[in-house]
Amino acid sequence: MKYEIKCSKCSRASPNILDFKCSCGSPLETHLHFNFEKKKVHKRNYSLWRYVSFFPYVKEKEIISLGEGWTPLVKFSDNAYFKLENLNPTGSFKDRGSTVLVSALHTLVKKAGAFISEDSSGNAGASMAAYAARAGLKARIYVPENVSGPKFNQIKFYGAEVVKVSGSRSKVAEEAQKTERGKFYVGHILHPLFRDGIRSLAYEIAEQLGWPIPERIYLPVSAGTLLLGVIKGFKHLIESNVIEAMPRIVACQTRQVSPLYHRFKNLSYTSPERITSIADALVSVNPPLLGFMVKHLREADGDAVLVEEDEIFNAFIELARKGFFVEPSSAVAYAAYKKQLKNKEASKDDKTVIILTGMGLKTILKPK
Ligand SMILES: Cc1ncc(COP(=O)(O)O)c(C=O)c1O
Ligand SMILES: [Zn+2]
Repeated sequence: MKYEIKCSKCSRASPNILDFKCSCGSPLETHLHFNFEKKKVHKRNYSLWRYVSFFPYVKEKEIISLGEGWTPLVKFSDNAYFKLENLNPTGSFKDRGSTVLVSALHTLVKKAGAFISEDSSGNAGASMAAYAARAGLKARIYVPENVSGPKFNQIKFYGAEVVKVSGSRSKVAEEAQKTERGKFYVGHILHPLFRDGIRSLAYEIAEQLGWPIPERIYLPVSAGTLLLGVIKGFKHLIESNVIEAMPRIVACQTRQVSPLYHRFKNLSYTSPERITSIADALVSVNPPLLGFMVKHLREADGDAVLVEEDEIFNAFIELARKGFFVEPSSAVAYAAYKKQLKNKEASKDDKTVIILTGMGLKTILKPK
């Protein structure tokens, strides 16, 4: 057996690839029973699918690709690199999860004459809508009422049905999960294959740096798919004896939406009544995978940082003035890096990768 999908709590195996949670209600997790081998990388494929050998539940002829992955790793200063995930086909890192999830499922969904449903603050919805379109699948995307205009338009242009839901982010998820004839819920936050697709990002960072891994990696965290996927990828490389140690993974959050930061540092957290942060993609005040994130971040000997609104805005402007136009939510990771340098919690001598997760054209901010 090359892989298993099992419950993270009761360990029950979940043989149906369409399942998004265990019958006990807990999240599912993929377990890999094979090694990463450099010689199995398809060197002439300049997309995520150069790693097709390491996604055994996807049949090669059923891959739905828009050319995602193998994004540039650009040197920014002596030891700091940006991983340009904003350059993915729909403008965010979510395409890694979508290509893997949709490739694995589309034939089954089509055979059942069904459609997929997803809930998202914007980027994952746009991404799933695009891959559904490429696969010829019908998609219904549930979004919060205040979804950013450019993301809403993007989802609509891909041809998905969009349902706006008022209330909290959890309410949006609840609506998307409601059972309905012909509807398969494949929400990216819970579905284990979406998260699993993100592990390709760790492989790429390691390969693009020539396998010696960086000392530190900064990434923004909301629902935790990016964090968990990246940790999983590096763990797989360690277990396969391809790299020796885990880079220090730094989870970056906004003051308003920082449940992971607080739980990780054993502090209490009260979510704001209304989220007004310019980092509008980071809205999970009560993420279903929070316990999971804390466990994996601790095991990986990672760290967590919290940044203020003015720090995010300044980082966003500074990045743009240097030619990197990304979403304010992505600037959170750069703001956290700068903060740790200033506080001497990080050093300029450490080789560092900052993941720029989403493109600037998605922002609703207007220049002065
Ligand atoms: C641009 C951007 N960056 C970071 C994140 C955080 O990713 P995750 O929800 O997997 O923690 C998101 C999630 O929506 C996003 O859209
Ligand atoms: Zn279970």
